[in-house]
Amino acid sequence: MDTIRIMLLVLTVMTIPLRLDALQEDDLGKVTYDRWCSECHGVDGSGNGSAAGFMLPRPRNFTLAQYQIRTTASGDLPTDQNMLDAINNGAPGTAMPAWDDLLSEPEKQALVQYLKTFSRFFPDDEVPQSLDFGGSTRTSEEVVAEGRRQYEAIECWKCHGDQGRGDGESSPTLVDDTGFPAAAADLTENWFFNGGDDVEDIYRAIRTGLDGTPMPNFSDVLDAGVITEEELWAVAHYVRSLSPEEVPGISEVVQARLIEDLDVPRSVADEIWNETEGVYIPLVGQIIVQPRWFNPRVDGVWVKAFHNGEDISVMVRWSDPNNSPDQAWSDWKSQVVTTMEPKEGGDTGIGASPDQLVVQFPMQMPEGMERPYFLKGDSRRPVYLWEWKSDRQTALEGEARGVGTESFQAEGQDLSVEGVHKDGQWQVVFTRPLLTEDENDLDFITGEAIPMSFFAWDGDNGESGNQGALSSWYFLMLEEATPTAVYVAPPLAMLLAGALGLLMVRNAQKREKENI
Ligand code: HEC
Ligand code: HEC
Repeated sequence: MDTIRIMLLVLTVMTIPLRLDALQEDDLGKVTYDRWCSECHGVDGSGNGSAAGFMLPRPRNFTLAQYQIRTTASGDLPTDQNMLDAINNGAPGTAMPAWDDLLSEPEKQALVQYLKTFSRFFPDDEVPQSLDFGGSTRTSEEVVAEGRRQYEAIECWKCHGDQGRGDGESSPTLVDDTGFPAAAADLTENWFFNGGDDVEDIYRAIRTGLDGTPMPNFSDVLDAGVITEEELWAVAHYVRSLSPEEVPGISEVVQARLIEDLDVPRSVADEIWNETEGVYIPLVGQIIVQPRWFNPRVDGVWVKAFHNGEDISVMVRWSDPNNSPDQAWSDWKSQVVTTMEPKEGGDTGIGASPDQLVVQFPMQMPEGMERPYFLKGDSRRPVYLWEWKSDRQTALEGEARGVGTESFQAEGQDLSVEGVHKDGQWQVVFTRPLLTEDENDLDFITGEAIPMSFFAWDGDNGESGNQGALSSWYFLMLEEATPTAVYVAPPLAMLLAGALGLLMVRNAQKREKENI
């Protein structure tokens, strides 16, 4: 054998495993993608997987190479690290899951490379360049105040609203680049930001925009000298200050504090509400019975309560950009309805729907662990309801023995209500005597963990009937005059709640099966 041939042989042997490796990486990307991503993003990456029609925002169309989470300039491609971060963290507040713990490092790396193959925009040779953001400045009251001034000056409020709840004057008209309605983010809920919740993430979103959505980038105003880098960091600190310092933990129990010798607060404006922070209760779209709802506007409510031994007041507040029905939002509504409805055959979106809130309790205090079915009870374990609607200033008490059996008493109401809409937020205060004559109305007894859950609808987001948002069971606990019992009960109630969460899921699954 001559040397040339020997060298060729050696070379071939050396390159075979290399090529195998390369093949394996391609395969790994495709196999992982087809298995975990294609149902939403489509086998061809076009964003049209079989589940895509059920969600807003829609799964990303990778053929357009438009990425929200970028450290690169608006209009530029993301870095590999940006794509990896998006895969790891998901997009909170959308259907895009966080794959952090679910996939291995090689799988995720392979996915990044595979996603690029869907688009001809990714060149082989160029590496996208990250912008220089400088470092985060320190925050302080002055910095936040400066941020607020700039928030006004560069008109973030036009979309996000004066208090940041996504209710600016442009908000009903916003659509993404593919024509779907795009809600301006609620800046008071940083745990739902697509690109992360801390001040660096916020600054990145402001500097580079969220490509493909109406959220612009503000690098241009910086380059034009309209605003300094420090001032733009101040805006990020201001936005960060609109959300709680910590993501609200899941607390299963709403404490109704005892205020002896005082009337309970019946008005939203009562100062006593400021004395307690309230409990955050997450809501999700109703997807158990037809017609389902995959695009709920209300993603959580804050709940506070007081009682004085005679009466109880419960205040529920939540972000909602407008008081429905509202002419300014009628286009938004019909767009959402035509985008979401055809598959589910819900209401046609014709006619005006108000915003609504229903608070649900068991009709009788359950013995032991059993609670009514959380979706409006059943014949064995009925529920007792408080209903409020934005188009009437009264609340109704009612009952239900299953979905669709709700009935509300027009007469003999013990319940009063005040609902106020301001700056993209509803605040609704219900007041009722603890005990009533009506045997179908739950009596509120101190020291007991009273199951309580919530349903909310945004009428101008196309929500009514079964198509709205709901929570699982939580507990309302009226503080007793004797502190020891109160001390023991909440941890117990929390244990119960944990067990109940499981029970609820199992019940729902059982019912699903029975319905098939
Ligand atoms: C249940 C549906 C669903 C699944 C499964 C899913 N995605 Fe997504 N994905 C979405 C949605 C919806 C968006 C759009 C979010 C938005 O626009 O805010 C998205 C957006 C993305 C983005 C864009 C991030 C950015 O910066 O703009 C990437 C990248 C992505 N997905 C990758 C993946 C990968 C990789 C997988 C599989 C491991 C996957 N997705 C699985 C629903 C899904
Ligand atoms: C033209 C309307 C518009 C303007 C002006 C605007 N935004 Fe946005 N912004 C949006 C929309 C829409 C979204 C949600 C995009 C999505 O996820 O679909 C958003 C999202 C955000 C987010 C969430 C980022 C994330 O990771 O999800 C932040 C923070 C934000 N904007 C801050 C600002 C600030 C600060 C300003 C002013 C400097 C501003 N926005 C100006 C429309 C706007």
